[in-house]
Amino acid sequence: MKNIILIGFMGVGKGSVAREVIKHSDYLAIDTDDLIESMENKTIKKIFAQDGEEHFRALEKKVSVWLQTNVNSTLISTGGGFYKQENLKDIGVVVLLNSPFEKILQRINSHPNAVKKLKKRPLLSDLKAAKELYNTRLPEYLDLADIVIDVTDKSAFDCSKELLQKVKDYV
Ligand code: S3P
Repeated sequence: MKNIILIGFMGVGKGSVAREVIKHSDYLAIDTDDLIESMENKTIKKIFAQDGEEHFRALEKKVSVWLQTNVNSTLISTGGGFYKQENLKDIGVVVLLNSPFEKILQRINSHPNAVKKLKKRPLLSDLKAAKELYNTRLPEYLDLADIVIDVTDKSAFDCSKELLQKVKDYV
């Protein structure tokens, strides 16, 4: 089986959908942010604050090279900026989870741990800048995606079912 790579903006629900996919399939899941945090033994927030975004992006690059060589048959969820990796399409089938920016914010804010969710994402600290980032990235995400799933007002379970159905044509 080919890898499935989940891309999409911060807070769109990549982690929640990944957890549902592994419950209902033979895939195991890994997450690029988790890999980076264990490599550095630091949270993403600390990496941004202490070492800067450029260092974080270099770590994403290192992870992308490692994934392409070493990982198969896995659902890979990625940080919202990971899609910039040149070898993204060589790692696996690219699945975009998408929703309008306002709906993503609503989703984050309705979570019991909303404050924590916002705080752990340095690029969401300024909502105006985050919206601009979303607008810049959306066409790039759409361009790269083999499959697009609109997650707006859908449960993670329903998104995972849609994903597993749609990837059948690719893996
Ligand atoms: C980022 C998204 C974050 C994390 C980092 C940068 C981005 O991951 O990788 O804060 O550039 O969009 P999530 O998409 O899981 O929030």
